[in-house]
Amino acid sequence: MIINPYIVQLDADHPGFRDEEYRRRRDFIALESEKYNGSIDSIPTIEYTNKELETWQYVYSKLIELSPYYAFDEHITGLNELGITGKEIPQLRYITEIMHKKTGFQMVPVKGLIPGKEFMQSFAEGFFYSTQYVRHHSTPGFTPEPDIIHEILGHASGLYSKDVSKIAKEIGSAALKTDDKDKLKKLENIYWFVIEYGLIKENGKIKTFGAGNLSSFIDIKRCVEEKECHRPFDIEVIANTSYDPTITQKILFVAESFDDCYRQVKDYCNSL
Ligand SMILES: [Fe+2]
Repeated sequence: MIINPYIVQLDADHPGFRDEEYRRRRDFIALESEKYNGSIDSIPTIEYTNKELETWQYVYSKLIELSPYYAFDEHITGLNELGITGKEIPQLRYITEIMHKKTGFQMVPVKGLIPGKEFMQSFAEGFFYSTQYVRHHSTPGFTPEPDIIHEILGHASGLYSKDVSKIAKEIGSAALKTDDKDKLKKLENIYWFVIEYGLIKENGKIKTFGAGNLSSFIDIKRCVEEKECHRPFDIEVIANTSYDPTITQKILFVAESFDDCYRQVKDYCNSL
């Protein structure tokens, strides 16, 4: 019998699957998350390597050029107020200290992906499970699962935004109330098409506030410019639309405003 020596399991097609150094490093960062004891002070500080920093800087520099054209208005403000720059990979603890004061959200370090119900219901209490490792350096434009670049450049500005964070809390409260698999699947669909890939009209332009788009220098532009992918924001349709996380998203929902988006999500969640 072959004993898998790694704590974090990766699929064979993961870019870092055959890179032993990467997998050891990833395991180390994953284990650091065990130091978290519920207080913001206990979120571990990671001393990122030069290679990890280079990956961050490459992605950051590309995204920061595109964000003014494609990201929702609060994104750049949020990054600035959270002190996020290309100089260093932000520490989850520092981001959380600032974010918590504004919207009550806290980033909670974890080893990897968390099951859907547990992940979503944590929003109700203002927690957002977050990874701290960096994607494999060979694919800076792609990661098959969340990494610190996705959490910071994708989720941080949303959780720092009162508009986006209150939508997440509605999804979390609904997930907390139910164990029904069908209802949880509908909530996962809403989470996916709103928090990860949502689009919004701002000042007559379509922008994205979805973390999956905001943290990808390919998707941030594509999601806005590929108009044939756009659909009206109808929460019934969204709740019943399945998705494949492993492919480029070809269906994207455009909300008329954050107020409309919030009202539809809230009404739907209350009806479950
Ligand atoms: Fe995400």
